[in-house]
Amino acid sequence: MTDHTELAGRRVLVTGATHGIGRSIARAFAAAGATVVLHGRDADAGNRLALELSGSFVAADLEDPGAPARIVDAATEGGQLDVVVNNAGFEVEAAVDALVPEILTRLLRVNVQAPVEIIRLALPHLERSDGAAIVNVTSIHESVPVEANGGYAAAKAALAAFTRTAAIELGPRGVRINNLAPGAVRTSMNDHLIHQVGEERFARWIPLGRVGDVDDVAQAALFLAGPASRYVTGTTLTVDGGYSQHLVRYAPDPGTA
Ligand SMILES: NC(=O)c1ccc[n+]([C@@H]2O[C@H](COP(=O)([O-])OP(=O)(O)OC[C@H]3O[C@@H](n4cnc5c(N)ncnc54)[C@H](OP(=O)(O)O)[C@@H]3O)[C@@H](O)[C@H]2O)c1
Repeated sequence: MTDHTELAGRRVLVTGATHGIGRSIARAFAAAGATVVLHGRDADAGNRLALELSGSFVAADLEDPGAPARIVDAATEGGQLDVVVNNAGFEVEAAVDALVPEILTRLLRVNVQAPVEIIRLALPHLERSDGAAIVNVTSIHESVPVEANGGYAAAKAALAAFTRTAAIELGPRGVRINNLAPGAVRTSMNDHLIHQVGEERFARWIPLGRVGDVDDVAQAALFLAGPASRYVTGTTLTVDGGYSQHLVRYAPDPGTA
């Protein structure tokens, strides 16, 4: 494992840090010596993790338009903010016919609008850092389609496109911004799918032979936030064990494909 001690003393906001990938990212930053500001809705889980990591927790539902301001206020208490990890997100399985405006609005609100607003509000603080970095957690579905996933894919693709554009504007201001696109990672978000397919069978779709672990994604987040990626901005780092390259994804039996 890479030594990420250069992140010591950095102040890092991680949204959606109460469970899954975000919790692992928060733990990884704290282990590297960063001060973590955690966000989520589940106050019990958030406060427990804040205690464990000697960080702080802010509860806010990203569907609430006032949430980004409350989160950035908490993250910038004391003035310093070096890294923003926009990780919070959710997925709704809805085929085109079922993608009613209420669902699409929620998907866009949480997965695109809120992270963009967090970035906009955090920017004056990030600009003062000599190691400013933004990591937007998207998904392989920012570019790889699967059925009944159009709303989520549209939201993640929008965030990814925003990142590429923002990189042009923010580079000269000393702020790097990248996308981190996980593939299939075992969390509550896709437990049911992995269970339904069967983990062994699922793993056969993945060139590296296993479903992803939250720490696989956390290590990539450390890389994108730290000086090892100092010349990297406006790109997407895919962390999927090769899953998105495997075009036999839809074969009825991946074992014989
Ligand atoms: N797991 C995968 O295979 C996978 C693959 C590609 C991309 N991703 C992306 O990775 C990120 C993390 O997903 P995960 O798998 O770790 O999912 P998860 O275990 O369901 O965790 C989601 C996190 O986001 C927070 N969150 C969700 N909706 C929110 C809202 N409306 N307001 C505030 N917080 C909200 C949750 O907070 P509370 O629990 O406190 O409500 C939780 O901390 C997401 O952006 C997801 O799209 C995941």
